[in-house]
Amino acid sequence: MARLLARTCCSKTLSQVPRCPVGLVAARAWSHGPLTAYMPEAITFSRLKDHQDLYKVSVDQGDAFWGALGRSRLTWITPFHSVQDCDLHQGRISWFLGGQLNVAVNCLDRHVHAAPDKVALIWEKDEPGEEVRVTYRELLELTCRLGNTLKRQGVKRGDRVTIYMPPCPLAVASMLACARIGAVHAVVFAGFSAESLADRIRDGKSQWEMMKEDACCEPAVMDSEDMLFLLYTSGSTGKPKGLVHSQAGYLLFAALTHKYVFNYQDRDIFGCVADIGWITGHTYVVYGPLCNGGTTVLFESTPVHPNPGRYWETVERLRINQFYGAPTAIRLLLRYSDEWVKKYDRSSLKVLGSVGEPLNKEAWEWYFRVVGETRCPVVDTWWQTETGGICISPRPSNPGAEILPGMAMRPFFGISPTLLDDKGNVLLENNISGALCISQAWPGMARTIYNDHKRFLETYLTPYPGFFFTGDGAYRTRKGYYQLTGRLDDIINISGHRLGTAEVEDIVNHHVAVAESAVIGYPHEIKGEGAYVFVVLKKDSGYTQETLAAELQELISKKIAKYAAPDYVQVTHRLPKTRSGKIMRRVLRKIVEDKASELGDLTTLDDHEAVQQIIEGHKHLVEGQKSY
Ligand code: WTA
Repeated sequence: MARLLARTCCSKTLSQVPRCPVGLVAARAWSHGPLTAYMPEAITFSRLKDHQDLYKVSVDQGDAFWGALGRSRLTWITPFHSVQDCDLHQGRISWFLGGQLNVAVNCLDRHVHAAPDKVALIWEKDEPGEEVRVTYRELLELTCRLGNTLKRQGVKRGDRVTIYMPPCPLAVASMLACARIGAVHAVVFAGFSAESLADRIRDGKSQWEMMKEDACCEPAVMDSEDMLFLLYTSGSTGKPKGLVHSQAGYLLFAALTHKYVFNYQDRDIFGCVADIGWITGHTYVVYGPLCNGGTTVLFESTPVHPNPGRYWETVERLRINQFYGAPTAIRLLLRYSDEWVKKYDRSSLKVLGSVGEPLNKEAWEWYFRVVGETRCPVVDTWWQTETGGICISPRPSNPGAEILPGMAMRPFFGISPTLLDDKGNVLLENNISGALCISQAWPGMARTIYNDHKRFLETYLTPYPGFFFTGDGAYRTRKGYYQLTGRLDDIINISGHRLGTAEVEDIVNHHVAVAESAVIGYPHEIKGEGAYVFVVLKKDSGYTQETLAAELQELISKKIAKYAAPDYVQVTHRLPKTRSGKIMRRVLRKIVEDKASELGDLTTLDDHEAVQQIIEGHKHLVEGQKSY
């Protein structure tokens, strides 16, 4: 269905439709000059010679920094009167107060004024060589038609609309149509199962319908802090949570990070291969590039279709300048011959980006040396659905700055990473690890969890009062660079997909044969992590390890998505527990990492024999699966 609808949007008739008047807003001149050019007089003094100076300004004089950028980079209907009113202790996060704008106008109309026939989207379909280009004018027309369709179906400002489509122009136009009429979109990854989709639709109480409408749609006047979209992501407990992003702050942060992390220039072709159902697709396929008036690629295929040269053939054919992908794909591709890369011309490439999980050194080196011919800086970008945009990353627009493999390096403008120990003390020194928090609010951060502000506070703001807690651990090197060390909670990261172990356990525990279970992430060569399920069977369940594994794999694929299916299911008599009855996950984690000799302090463990049996069972299972 989604594919069928998608095809209609590239119909040639679109270009014959009259241009949509911008209406309310006069678009401003758009320039890709250096960031310092946007700073007010007071802070563009001569000492601002490089990014380090500017970074200092961005955190020490946040209001001046963000105020200047908010004014110069976004087109407003009503100017804001205050830059921010934020208090992380209280959970109050508001940016650009009093300001009114329309996100779709910022992403479309003002560029239609400047260059209507500039290509906004290049839709790279599943089969190579069938790409479709959509200009800014065409995208505006399509967006307006969809906006009118939604209105006619009764969708009103503030209503939630779920979008379940692969990356294609119609999907982008649907997001922008919601933004245009003031509805809130909730894009669901097209790989999710029907049940996951249904959960998200029910939670967001949304509706969807289709087109054939007028190509002009007046933009709604939105307050800076009105909701722009919901995006569901896994948490360490309970059901996935719908993170809420608002209009102005998110858009500004998306545009700014897109410009300065990737050094995006006016005529560049930006190739982010993420699905639009993820935050990476929202920020770096849609909102960042379009707000900057750029040309963005919608990649609908896979890295190995029709062969492992697909990315690089696409780079050659579309002349992509910035390529932004995921470590799991890079690890997969480096196992094939380098010829798959070298046979294609990659001279257009200027920056290579990575996101979603740690980019291990081997993958970094291959990306840098083979793909980028040591010419293109690699930006290992750390951020989250919650942060809205990139928070820690090298900045190639800062010439001469050091970039090291295996780390995200430096905070972006306005981001103040802080490491804390488990007692909540701030760790000031270098060469130290701790819980990664951010000490000041920034415009792109999520504002709440839909329908559950209490959970938002409990998850992000109360663990370390006064700080935003990311859930990740980090190491700060001797030189002050940041290296991510992994999640501190029960979230695992499979090929860049976030998965709460509790979500999987909930499904496993509902199986008739299961008494209890524990789901653990284990290191996987390509996927980064894989799911490993420990199960205690009910008495006389009649199931064996093999029959249960097959059923659980199918069940989890169906209830969540294929990527969530466990690689291993181990049946055991008991799970290791503390004397107070808590499952000792760290013990299971060491076992699945094949580090049974490093189990650590076991004084609270209730049954040592159970652990020995689990270690033996694990060896058997892994060896058996290998030989199979
Ligand atoms: C992990 C994706 C190491 C991290 C944009 C984070 C990373 C979670 C990196 C967010 C990176 C993301 N290095 N780990 N460069 N980027 N992560 O919400 O654990 O899907 O908290 O957002 O992915 O995943 P999410």
